[in-house]
Amino acid sequence: MPQFSDATRGRILFGGDYNPEQWPEETWHEDVRLMKDAGVNSVTLGVFSWAKLEPEPGAREFDWLDTLMDLMHDNGIGVVLATPTSSPPPWMGRLHPDTLPRDADGHIEWWGGRQHFSHSSATYRHYAAAITEDLAARYAGHPALTMWHINNEYCTFDHGDEAAAAFRRWLREKYGTLDGLNTAWGTAFWSQGYDSWDGILPPRRAHYLNNPTQVLDFRRFTSDMLLECYVAERDIVRRHTPRLPVTTNFMSLWIGQDAWRWAEEEDVVSVDIYPDPRDPLGAQHGALVQDMTRSQARGPWMLMEQAAGPVNWRGVNHPKPRGVNRLWSLQAVARGADAVCYFQWRQSRQGAEKFHSGMVSHAGERGRTFQEVKQLGAELARIGREVAGNHTANEIAILHDWHSWWAGAQDGRPSTEVDHPAVVHAWHRALWDAHLTTDFAHPEHDLTAYKLVVVPQLYALTDAAIENLLAYVRGGGTLVCGFLTGVADEDDRVRPGGMDARLRELFGIRTLHEWWPLDAGESVECDGFRGSLWSEEIEADGSDDETIRYKGGELDGLPAVLRKGRAWYVSTLPEPDELRGLLGRMAAEAGVRPVLDRLPAGVEAVRRGDLLFLLNHGREAVTVEVPGTHRDLLTDTTVTDELSLGRYGAAVLKP
Ligand code: GAL
Repeated sequence: MPQFSDATRGRILFGGDYNPEQWPEETWHEDVRLMKDAGVNSVTLGVFSWAKLEPEPGAREFDWLDTLMDLMHDNGIGVVLATPTSSPPPWMGRLHPDTLPRDADGHIEWWGGRQHFSHSSATYRHYAAAITEDLAARYAGHPALTMWHINNEYCTFDHGDEAAAAFRRWLREKYGTLDGLNTAWGTAFWSQGYDSWDGILPPRRAHYLNNPTQVLDFRRFTSDMLLECYVAERDIVRRHTPRLPVTTNFMSLWIGQDAWRWAEEEDVVSVDIYPDPRDPLGAQHGALVQDMTRSQARGPWMLMEQAAGPVNWRGVNHPKPRGVNRLWSLQAVARGADAVCYFQWRQSRQGAEKFHSGMVSHAGERGRTFQEVKQLGAELARIGREVAGNHTANEIAILHDWHSWWAGAQDGRPSTEVDHPAVVHAWHRALWDAHLTTDFAHPEHDLTAYKLVVVPQLYALTDAAIENLLAYVRGGGTLVCGFLTGVADEDDRVRPGGMDARLRELFGIRTLHEWWPLDAGESVECDGFRGSLWSEEIEADGSDDETIRYKGGELDGLPAVLRKGRAWYVSTLPEPDELRGLLGRMAAEAGVRPVLDRLPAGVEAVRRGDLLFLLNHGREAVTVEVPGTHRDLLTDTTVTDELSLGRYGAAVLKP
């Protein structure tokens, strides 16, 4: 199997999406000059080039791309070549309306934007395979080619007729019989029993709440169909270049793809990360996605896209203060990235993203953005040899599962205030604040290597996952589960008692009488902390070793947190400081130490191999205690016992 290291070859890849078709040829030469100046060693070509490569059905125009591939090679810049299949040319929709997806209301998603393709369309798949085949055949032996990038951010849905037929096929394969489907979907409810496969539809606009298991299966189906599209193109390029790694870029904690499953089909796991520079938790958002991507990759991964400055898709789009692009890029490297890339190289002058930053902004070469990019390129080149390929195993894992998310994120639940990603963020943040670095894992993964396993919320769990958690605790692991965990099975059928009996026994819960969700802004008092979002009326069975109780209100005196041996259950969302304290205690008891004991506020410390990354996310200069003598690879200076970090400053220390 090809490896990421085949493309990085001991360096950190630095570069980004390059869209030269938006520019005259003179600019290409200017681009190359600036790329070399900035230390760019990798560009992604062709992401949105389909109309240029195939201006009419079956036509091929590769000359311009030949020129660019040669130009890149002549200048020592590797090419990650994209299949252009995320944005079909307008002729496709015009000649083949069957390639256009429909939403739940039956409305067509027209051309004129991007990603207007139906994953289920045989016509789309035919054209996508043909252009991929010809692209791969043409550039297979090209010396600039280092890697393949399939499509871009697979994220579309289709509720149309061809998708409906594919959904039925998928369901037949899954359930075999209509009885099986009717049972799994609980169609006895609301007179939904199906007498024919032909009657089954994707969840289209209905008068009132759609069947939740139908919705859940449709999400599974959509992820699988998109994966089929990816695999079809991947297999084509692999046939031509068996030794080149293949990737497709994920979005940050995106609901649409089961990324655990997808990552198994990739040689390199890559992701796009766009924290809001104004968000006080922007750095933690980045850290979470980085931790998740590294865990999916089980090793070095690729930051495929970030913004050098502002994006253009928030309400208000803030630029990055001086130093933040560098800081967040180094943060990704600290957390396992072997590639730091951007959307996009040169800021567009036309089109929908002309106010989205590029590595070369409208201000050009003299602009601050490019100057900072250039400094970063030089620094990544300096540290690359020491860093690339290193992987650090962590002792804590947060469990996350898309199927559980899909089952839980539906209408008709106890509270619309419970946003699953926000809950995952809250738990990750608590670890982040405590300088406890964490992996992510799937609930059915082998967890034995971890000392502490954190379940922010796994609403739906398979029997295999539950048995895995029980075995983990039996084997000496410490487990903490947040509320709304173990409520349903994989069909979204509520477990008897409202929480799986094995889990209730694990935590010492006799009866879960009621869920008491909280309003926005409401909180409940517990012994020593306040909780928000949720609370529960729990009756303990008396076997627990420790109870933290609700104080006042309807739940006064009832358990808010239960510990039985090494298993903890937390029935509310403690305020950030309290959650940090709680997790810090669990980690300490499980024998997990923070990266450093004493760190000034706002400083993040991460180990990668034998290197210690120190990242000051604060606006004030700070002094960090680092006992011993080290070499700071960024400045090539010696550091003894302490180090000062300026505003948004960073250091990479080698013992
Ligand atoms: C990504 C996409 C890029 C660009 C970028 C803007 O979602 O892959 O093509 O649109 O966002 O932030």
